[in-house]
Amino acid sequence: MSTEADATAVSMCRRLSRSLMPLLLGMLLFVLYIATQAVLKCQATTESRGSLGIRKLSGIPGNGVIRNLGGISENEVIQEHAENAASKPLKAFLVILIPTGPKYVWRRNTLRETWFKLADDNVLQRFVIGMKSLDKDAQEQLIQENKEHGDLVFLWDFNDSYGGLAAKVLLTFKWLDENVDFKYVLKTDDDTFVRTDRLQKELKERNVQSKLFWGFFSGKSPVYREGIYEEKDWFLCDTYLPYAFGGGYILSTDLAHFIASNAHWLKPYKSEDVSMGAWLSPLDVLRVHDPRFNSEHESRGCMDEYLINHKVYDEGMKAQYKQVIETGRLCPKEVLKRRSYIYNWDVPPSQCCNRTWGII
Ligand SMILES: *[C@@H]1O[C@H](CO)[C@@H](O)[C@H](O)[C@H]1NC(C)=O
Ligand SMILES: *[C@@H]1O[C@H](CO)[C@@H](O)[C@H](O)[C@H]1NC(C)=O
Repeated sequence: MSTEADATAVSMCRRLSRSLMPLLLGMLLFVLYIATQAVLKCQATTESRGSLGIRKLSGIPGNGVIRNLGGISENEVIQEHAENAASKPLKAFLVILIPTGPKYVWRRNTLRETWFKLADDNVLQRFVIGMKSLDKDAQEQLIQENKEHGDLVFLWDFNDSYGGLAAKVLLTFKWLDENVDFKYVLKTDDDTFVRTDRLQKELKERNVQSKLFWGFFSGKSPVYREGIYEEKDWFLCDTYLPYAFGGGYILSTDLAHFIASNAHWLKPYKSEDVSMGAWLSPLDVLRVHDPRFNSEHESRGCMDEYLINHKVYDEGMKAQYKQVIETGRLCPKEVLKRRSYIYNWDVPPSQCCNRTWGII
């Protein structure tokens, strides 16, 4: 009896499993199908996000692909910009801001006589001077200088002899934000030669509307513990955060606006360029490293491709201007004194910037 029942049970089980098998197989296939669809769909969305969000800046060595645009649409940024623009007294495509010491009239004159002349009406060039610590005579002289040239910005509340350049840059950006309707700003120095002609052309061609931070970056600069750049307050990291050297860097209007409108929150460190790197570090920014910015504290030499050429004075500046006017090239004699690098954004900052010959 029991063996008969067992046999029946076994055969029933066999029959059942035979009829269930196709069903189970079917379910398995269905699950596989759903999973495949999900994966494909997921890949499709990331791909389309990627191609929508990533902008290419071609032509700059090492900067094939830059970064994702993130949350805010460019249209919103442009819209806001357009609404605020009407109320501003000045308008320019590119603003060039040059913090300078009150006494450096000879440097200002050299710039006026040289590369300032490369600019057309779409470029606004301004020296920025702190007036607070100056006596009446010195102030009067500067006011006269401005009557003659009309290219000075006075910061009446800033003490220029104090040496807080980062704080000065914050005030400079506040002035900019309040007074100029512009697309890009170049912060540079009074000992830098700027190829205004070429910069303007490239900015127009590239047409990056927002989040642009363009310069020569460092990711592993040791913190200065002595000398004129001595930094007492830096504690964020063993090195500075990635920043673009202050000999010249460019920001799009939205980033300048961010700096200006948050100035009261931003900690000024000793160096303004180090500070700018830190101030922009948490933002979704398009960092474009460009060896054509010879903007370090020590010059790499002179190469015709340079857009920014730091540490040039007097006769050197005049010679370069003459060269540009006569030949379209920058350097009376091309020379490369130091090795350069392409910033590698795919490795930790400590490995970002290996210098090598063969790069300008
Ligand atoms: C400006 O700073 C210098 C150096 O710290 C100081 O001696 C001077 O009193 C300051 N002047 C004003 C007007 O704050
Ligand atoms: C730079 O040099 C370091 C140390 O030699 C190395 O670990 C790193 O991979 C190099 N980085 C690149 C991008 O070659």
